[in-house]
Amino acid sequence: LYGDERPNSRGWDLHDVDDVAAIETARNPFRDHFWTVGPLINGDVKSKIERPVVSPSNHNDKVGVVIQASAEDVETALLHAAPWDQDAKLRAETLRRAADLYEKNFGELFAALSREAGKTPMDAIAEVREAVDFLRYYAARGTELTNPARGVVACVSPWNFPLAIFSGQIAAALAAGNAVIAKPADPTSITAAIAVDLIHQAGVPRSALQLLPGRGSVVGAKITADPRIKGVCFTGSTQTAQTINRAMAEQIVPSAPLIAETGGLNVMIVDSTALPEQAIKDIVASAFQSAGQRCSALRLLYVQEDVAEPFLEMLFGAMDELVVGSPWDYRTDVGPVINSDALDEIREYIELARSNGRVLKELATPAEGTFVPPTVLKVNGIADLGKEIFGPVMHVATYKASDLDAVVAAVNATGYGLTFGMHSRIDDRIEQVTSQLNVGNMYINRNQIGAIVGSQPFGGEGLSGTGPKAGGPSYVKRFAQPKTRSIEF
Ligand code: NAD
Ligand code: ALA
Repeated sequence: LYGDERPNSRGWDLHDVDDVAAIETARNPFRDHFWTVGPLINGDVKSKIERPVVSPSNHNDKVGVVIQASAEDVETALLHAAPWDQDAKLRAETLRRAADLYEKNFGELFAALSREAGKTPMDAIAEVREAVDFLRYYAARGTELTNPARGVVACVSPWNFPLAIFSGQIAAALAAGNAVIAKPADPTSITAAIAVDLIHQAGVPRSALQLLPGRGSVVGAKITADPRIKGVCFTGSTQTAQTINRAMAEQIVPSAPLIAETGGLNVMIVDSTALPEQAIKDIVASAFQSAGQRCSALRLLYVQEDVAEPFLEMLFGAMDELVVGSPWDYRTDVGPVINSDALDEIREYIELARSNGRVLKELATPAEGTFVPPTVLKVNGIADLGKEIFGPVMHVATYKASDLDAVVAAVNATGYGLTFGMHSRIDDRIEQVTSQLNVGNMYINRNQIGAIVGSQPFGGEGLSGTGPKAGGPSYVKRFAQPKTRSIEF
């Protein structure tokens, strides 16, 4: 049992031959499987719009087909949505059954994450585990609520955590008794449909949970602007959060998203007292794991100039050990980026840096598939980063010890505040920096990714998010109506 009386999700050890054999048995039936998925609504699906899905790492791998929801399907979902009117304890039991079903169907989820989203084995395992932890954690928090559900809630999620964030949003809204209309990210609708099917199998009624795959600007925009929606739980880019916010503000009764968790320009500071081996391991994980496609990923490394030269040489040596390749392969450290649009955008960014002589390090990549080489670019400071580059691209700047306060001020001045890392052995310095930074999640002498549900509630400040933090004690409360009753006797 975990600290809050729930079983921890099952772990898998990729160095253990029995575990690897069990993973193989579970995922191999889905190696060539072709999924056909579509809207899962409380009524007949009318759409005939089909979108073929191929694997980002291998375009010859035909993963399946997704039927995109039509405007009529959105209307059906909205008409037939009904809050989950069941006792909170029974709702929690159902969500726990869903968590168990995720673990039982680990092989199919693993295969879909790998083939549709390009997740490496390590990432796919972490993702299933996080989803299971979210389901169990929010099930428990739902039983502590005393206030009623809000009504029909739209859950709009990103492709980079197509199972964990997708399931976490839904689980929290359902745990509070709401009806959910879930809009998965377009590139990862198959994983979402497998998940919703399992949650339905666990006993959540169709009226309480419906899935509407489709384009964000069409299906997502239509749902989130509808006045029957009593709250939007959004995770994705800051730009989309702003678009949704504007649309909601234009309703007859203006409302705001319940939650919007967005992007970041995440920094790590390494000073001259850091342990280089430890710092380098954590930098490589923070910047390049998941091909840098984490909101939490390290985007800019500040190294104290006194140690920068040998430190960077050592870092580049460590990067040479990274294996970039197929996400199905156990040896792979860095898989593909999500699709060719992402590939083109990141490549263009690297080419511009190259033309300015700012490429410090770059690895080779496979010729086929949407791979971006893990890359390090030189900058003067955070003011040089215009926007979040969502891939395995890390920037490096050096700083003088006497300029530490200016570095902190520059980070705060971006307005973003998602994650921050620091490697230092000086407690006062760590205290000075972390107390001044407006950042939601700070990590000292470790990597800055992979927040654990229930232990490291996750969410950003400023342009990075509204809160409350996912996987923390306040999250489910946001999905219930705050009410004050004052009675005199
Ligand atoms: P995105 O903003 O493009 O899309 C997110 C979701 O919004 C998708 O389901 C999309 O279809 C939908 N959408 C797009 N336009 C819409 C509109 N006009 N109305 C309603 N819905 C719309 O983001 P993405 O590319 O899927 O994900 C990557 C981004 O997510 C990055 O910026 C990353 O930092 C961020 N992210 C943040 C967190 C966090 O917890 N802070 C976690 C993961 C990802
Ligand atoms: N919660 C995810 C992480 O911490 C985004 O990396």
